[in-house]
Amino acid sequence: MSSAPPIQTAVIGLGKMGVMHAAMISSIPNMALAALVDLNPATGAQTQSIGPQAPFYSSITELFEKTAHLDAVVISTPQFTHRETGIACLEHGLHVFLEKPLAHNLADAKKLADAAQQHPEQVTAVGFMKGHYPLWIEAARRLQAGYIGEPRRYRAAVYFSQVLSPKNGWTFTKELSGGGILINSGVHLLHFLNMLFGQGTSVTARSTPLHSKVEDTLAALIEYPSGLFGSYDASWSLPGHQTESTCVLVEGSEGIMEITDDWLRVYHINGKEGVAKGWTKTHRGEFDHAKFNLSPDYGGEGYYNQLEDFALAIREKRPARYDWQTGLQIQQLTDAIYRSTETKQVVSVEN
Ligand SMILES: NC(=O)c1ccc[n+]([C@@H]2O[C@H](COP(=O)([O-])OP(=O)(O)OC[C@H]3O[C@@H](n4cnc5c(N)ncnc54)[C@H](O)[C@@H]3O)[C@@H](O)[C@H]2O)c1
Repeated sequence: MSSAPPIQTAVIGLGKMGVMHAAMISSIPNMALAALVDLNPATGAQTQSIGPQAPFYSSITELFEKTAHLDAVVISTPQFTHRETGIACLEHGLHVFLEKPLAHNLADAKKLADAAQQHPEQVTAVGFMKGHYPLWIEAARRLQAGYIGEPRRYRAAVYFSQVLSPKNGWTFTKELSGGGILINSGVHLLHFLNMLFGQGTSVTARSTPLHSKVEDTLAALIEYPSGLFGSYDASWSLPGHQTESTCVLVEGSEGIMEITDDWLRVYHINGKEGVAKGWTKTHRGEFDHAKFNLSPDYGGEGYYNQLEDFALAIREKRPARYDWQTGLQIQQLTDAIYRSTETKQVVSVEN
């Protein structure tokens, strides 16, 4: 157990995600909840009534004025506010964890990534919590260690049942969120594909609204410098998926790898040192270590592990596992996919 004083952390934005972060902070070793912030004063008492106890402020200006000692913030406001809030907190000298996506558009994402580079002593992190699933980290390790030889093609899909009727609010307003399924939820799978294969170089994509004013369903073809290509498919309007279900199937020169939220399996055609012939299956429970799993069916250990990594990065003076440069890469890919849906052309990914 470290004898260092806890990292005093404020949560900014007390909606669905902020309440969860506020509840989780006290279970992270060496982290303490210093303050709660939201533009809406009602959220302070609501959040305190379910457990997290810390002073409430209705702006970051008030937070900075009234908090004697603050080390870090977790920002869980809508993405159209990320640039302004994120940069203000960096300029105040704080370590900043920012919910995904980095921003609602590429211009804001670049400004955030630039600001992070100007403050190299401060830790920046972006909330790709699924990238903290130990099973998915292990899948990336095995793929890169050559378990199925050279990856040649993949098909990746994420489906859930969130939008089955007309919806309102910032999430469903392109100017505020940046789009629909892709930027609000599908970025987790894009990030995982980056963990597996690195950054794509060009994309072709199509999308359509079904019930809302943004895209509810989207398909893309992503190509890579090695010649690898893969299809990406996302919908939040498919009945029958009460929790998000992800599946990635990779075809390689020696076999296949299939990865879901719960297990991964490898089929090696001939078998080789360290990889058995035929199927081997691994369940996520073999890797989990989270001390607090809020929701085993969706994201639980990822939410814990990402805050634990943020705290350790601050302590160890190292970058977070997924920093704002990672956030910018995913934004560049997201932006290229959206441009392709608009132009119906093959679009190069900016880098
Ligand atoms: N990682 C995940 O699994 C996941 C899931 C859902 C949402 N998110 C992301 O988390 C962020 C928040 O989403 P949510 O669903 O919790 O939103 P929400 O609408 O439920 O809550 C947002 C809160 O932020 C407050 N707010 C808005 N602007 C503010 C500002 N400038 N300063 C202080 N407070 C402000 C609002 O009053 C509201 O209480 C978004 O970026 C979203 O994309 C991540």
